[in-house]
Amino acid sequence: MNLLLITGASSGIGRAIATRFMEDDWVVLNLSRRPCPVPEVENLTCDLAEPDAVMSLAPALQPWLAGAKRICLVHNASVMRLDRIDQLANADLRAALELNIIAASGLNQLIVPQMKAGSSLIYIGSTLSEKAVPGVASYVIAKHALVGMMRATCQDLAGRGIHACMICPGFTDTEQLRALIGDNPDTLAAITGLSTFDRLIAPEEIADAVAFAAHAPVLNGAVIHANLGQRER
Ligand SMILES: NC(=O)c1ccc[n+]([C@@H]2O[C@H](COP(=O)([O-])OP(=O)(O)OC[C@H]3O[C@@H](n4cnc5c(N)ncnc54)[C@H](OP(=O)(O)O)[C@@H]3O)[C@@H](O)[C@H]2O)c1
Repeated sequence: MNLLLITGASSGIGRAIATRFMEDDWVVLNLSRRPCPVPEVENLTCDLAEPDAVMSLAPALQPWLAGAKRICLVHNASVMRLDRIDQLANADLRAALELNIIAASGLNQLIVPQMKAGSSLIYIGSTLSEKAVPGVASYVIAKHALVGMMRATCQDLAGRGIHACMICPGFTDTEQLRALIGDNPDTLAAITGLSTFDRLIAPEEIADAVAFAAHAPVLNGAVIHANLGQRER
């Protein structure tokens, strides 16, 4: 069987990726605090911001890994908090790094040794993996670090027939984005106006890009902008 192992498929982009891979006949296993609502997706409930959360999952993960011909591991779970570089509590930065970086690395330790040729690691980055905007410092730091992890994955797994890349969504219509922008139509218009298509991205469009990337070793090491084109001001 082909196995998609994804973090954060209980909502938004992760849920769309889970749906897309189910349609393509992959077995899908989600790791998040809430279950993925897509029928037949399997769930391991966990809080990936808790230290050692991943290691405690090892026994439950083993049977899935053992039976997989090809694994696609998608590091997707993340939270954007409002914080600033001059007022950034260590605890908040640690929490962001725990979820985005330490948990992803822990999953890599468990899963990469069992990956066969044809497998892939897809890191979900952001426009803020390569640039910063004010007021979201811990997110910017974590998403930049994730680029480094993806590039190190590409280098360290050379010769194994496994590829890694990063998909960087632009503004995508998900629960996380709607919570951040609220109900203000002017805020929404300002955001959609940054896109050369004058609209938000549908989560399914990001899922299509991930599904393509899972089958495209030529993308090994690539940072892929999936943002409809952003207007430069
Ligand atoms: N939406 C955008 O405009 C946008 C733009 C650029 C990049 N992205 C990236 O796309 C990815 C998905 O974002 P989204 O917009 O789809 O957000 P979302 O709808 O809020 O989904 C976030 C997912 O992360 C999971 N998650 C959060 N904290 C977790 C924790 N402590 N332990 C386990 N799982 C946790 C959530 O599951 P539970 O709450 O059930 O745990 C949820 O399934 C993220 O990496 C985000 O940075 C999004």
